[in-house]
Amino acid sequence: MPISALRRLVVERADPVLGRCRYAADVGGRQIVHPVLIARRGERFEAVVENRLPQPTTVHFHGLTLPEAQDGAGFDAIAPGAAKALSFEVKNRSGLYWFHPHAHGFTAEQVYSGLVGLLVVVDAEDAALDTALALGPHNRLALAVSDVRVAAGSIRPYAPSAEDCLHGWFGNRALVNAALDVRRTVAPGWVRLQLLNACNARGLLLAFRDADANVPFHLLGTDGGLLAAPVGVDRLFVYPGERVDLAIDASGRRELVAVSLAFDPRHQAKGGKLAHAHPARGRYAPLAAEAVCGDGASGADALPDGVELGLFTLQVAGTGATQLPSLPARLSTLPEPPQATVRRLRLDFDEHAGFLIDNTPYRVEEIAFSLERGAREVWEVRNSPISMPHPMHLHGFGFRVLRRRGTFGPARALAGEEGRLPTDLGVKDTVVVWPNETLWLAVDFALPDEAAFRGRQRYMFHCHNLEHEDGMMMRNFAVL
Ligand code: C2O
Ligand code: CU
Ligand code: CU
Repeated sequence: MPISALRRLVVERADPVLGRCRYAADVGGRQIVHPVLIARRGERFEAVVENRLPQPTTVHFHGLTLPEAQDGAGFDAIAPGAAKALSFEVKNRSGLYWFHPHAHGFTAEQVYSGLVGLLVVVDAEDAALDTALALGPHNRLALAVSDVRVAAGSIRPYAPSAEDCLHGWFGNRALVNAALDVRRTVAPGWVRLQLLNACNARGLLLAFRDADANVPFHLLGTDGGLLAAPVGVDRLFVYPGERVDLAIDASGRRELVAVSLAFDPRHQAKGGKLAHAHPARGRYAPLAAEAVCGDGASGADALPDGVELGLFTLQVAGTGATQLPSLPARLSTLPEPPQATVRRLRLDFDEHAGFLIDNTPYRVEEIAFSLERGAREVWEVRNSPISMPHPMHLHGFGFRVLRRRGTFGPARALAGEEGRLPTDLGVKDTVVVWPNETLWLAVDFALPDEAAFRGRQRYMFHCHNLEHEDGMMMRNFAVL
């Protein structure tokens, strides 16, 4: 639905027993649950968010460049029963963005409970691509893929054990746009798929199968919009918070099954006993009446990270274009990565404190560092060898990946020039850092010269494994 039609966004519990929650958009008295929002670049978002959860929440627009007051990063959460008016301009390039809760200590539980919303930003470049692909009305999809623990036909509540807090909370089934066992019908011809990994912790090695054969596809874009040119691939890592924009040819096929292939997930951090004991959690009820927080009694077995998992099915039916148009050779012009001052950030593991950034656990009031607006920096992000992959996310600013070093394991086979993976070639806001790796990220901290952005603006840098995020693997920084 277009954001121009949105007046009220209700954050509510649909099932108090199992704690399943949803976003519901109010459009002139009519409710649209799990809305997929569509915005033209430059359009304004004007809506009131109503929190009907028993816990504080926020609406964070992951990937958008917003002033602190609209970023929903958790500095001023919306209390249970309260409301907040949001008002901002969507300034980012066309692409798939998303929104989710970000109240510190409650993020993992609330996202797992179903609070995942998609925001598709469109512009002229995006429309030109659809025309070039001769996309039929059913052949463009925006999908949020997460994993949930299902037992006896129902999705079990969030109840992480100490082990889950270390590795992340994993499910055993894929949930796609809030539904299990998703099948979508597409016509022969190009299918354009914008896909978000909305899992709490699971890394996806995305591939498509027709019977037993892996079907090649094309990467068109990443978190922050289109690539300069399409890249041919047969599998891609998509970690929590990351998005990919893909084209796959459905001609001559009956069915394409999207899967996460088996891979070595390189969880090398062992032995930590981490409790999910965020101080704020004790003051509010869990979302599910049945939840027994902390004992891991979910009643269902999780599939570990890296195990093969079926995601969804595209059923091919009807007739499409008789001749498949070729992919455009050029898709977009990307902002040049700035070459600039280097800032070093280390991702650490401590058996008692857990995963940390520069050995420091998150504190709401702390500002790790400040930088001038317009500053251009290269962030050198180094992960320890005894660790696990951390999908690191920067609020407010897209970045370019300059290079990767020290890559071992399954990502190494996908590395190209400068050690970069295909998904490193676009504008990013979330990037996975494997154990032992060092990444160089070029960030331009320019902010719009508008009243809304005046004064100090605080943003965050954190791991998007949500158990790590709630477990303090997060820092604030300020742009002055
Ligand atoms: Cu998608 Cu700070 O998060
Ligand atoms: Cu974000
Ligand atoms: Cu992490």
